[in-house]
Amino acid sequence: MLDQVTALRYLDPLRAGGSVPGVVETDDLGTYVVKFTGAAQGAKALVAEVIVGELARRLGLRVPPLVLVDFDPAVAAHEPDTEIQDILRSSAGLNLGMDLLPGARDFTPGALPVDPLEAGRIVWLDALTGNVDRTVHNPNLMVWHRRLWLIDNGAGLIFHHRWSGAAASVLKPYPMNAHALGAFRPAVAAADEEFAPRVTEELLREVVGLVPEPWLADEPGFDSPQAVRDAYVAHLAERAAGSAAWLPTEFASPEELRAAEERRAAATMAARPAWLKQVPNRHGLAQVESDWTRHIG
Ligand SMILES: Nc1ncnc2c1ncn2[C@@H]1O[C@H](COP(=O)(O)OP(=O)(O)OP(=O)(O)O)[C@@H](O)[C@H]1O
Ligand SMILES: [Mg+2]
Repeated sequence: MLDQVTALRYLDPLRAGGSVPGVVETDDLGTYVVKFTGAAQGAKALVAEVIVGELARRLGLRVPPLVLVDFDPAVAAHEPDTEIQDILRSSAGLNLGMDLLPGARDFTPGALPVDPLEAGRIVWLDALTGNVDRTVHNPNLMVWHRRLWLIDNGAGLIFHHRWSGAAASVLKPYPMNAHALGAFRPAVAAADEEFAPRVTEELLREVVGLVPEPWLADEPGFDSPQAVRDAYVAHLAERAAGSAAWLPTEFASPEELRAAEERRAAATMAARPAWLKQVPNRHGLAQVESDWTRHIG
């Protein structure tokens, strides 16, 4: 089982995240980034965090420790933002905590050298789990103590949003051409040789078994949470065994990435009123984005 802790204090919302995770202190003296069941992404994003994150960990990739956080919305009664309050008030009970990495920075190219085999392993995991949310625009990778850490695996396993179509997509290739590590010559074939035989039914049963039962309850088309677990195991085992069908081979060339970036920037600029055209973009990311394009060029 994942360790379970109790929230004592809600410190801050992380507004950079679409789901507005919160920084929370807990009774183990821990500080966690907590993803809430009441966020718009719903409990399935938390299911994916557990399955993808714990699978990644067992394959030797770095993922901050995960815990279940028992959350009483009363510990966040002081949070003034009413939209955030709505999320917190509908998240009583178990939520997902990811150990906060103090001083970690979001990954940008040039932050550290990335070995092609490590890039290949991460791309392989993302291709297996259909996670198209680790891109140059939103890397969902952090740099901590000069190493890469995987965060935000909640967008993976998209097949679980419509189980009736899951069988048809079991060997489906997902586009990886905007992957955050695509410019680092990811050694996907080597990663496949190493990882595909390790993603066994036994390993999958272990990680799927870590998902708390309430997050699997009442799934249409299934008569028990165990039946849902079995479906995750069967789907991912079949997909891992058929990796030749979905192994990504195409990554955007630096020129294509740069052209896409320029088109995007031009579209953003064109949509702005004249007075705003001088101001850096919403997150002050003009510099970060030009770092990307310079690096991949
Ligand atoms: N464990 C962690 N340690 C330190 N910082 C973190 C951690 N997890 C997340 N963050 C910071 O919070 C930001 C938002 O987190 P995350 O990407 O997990 O949220 P999200 O709501 O799923 O975001 P989105 O869907 O918009 O990508 C990250 O980009 C990162 O800067
Ligand atoms: Mg994110």
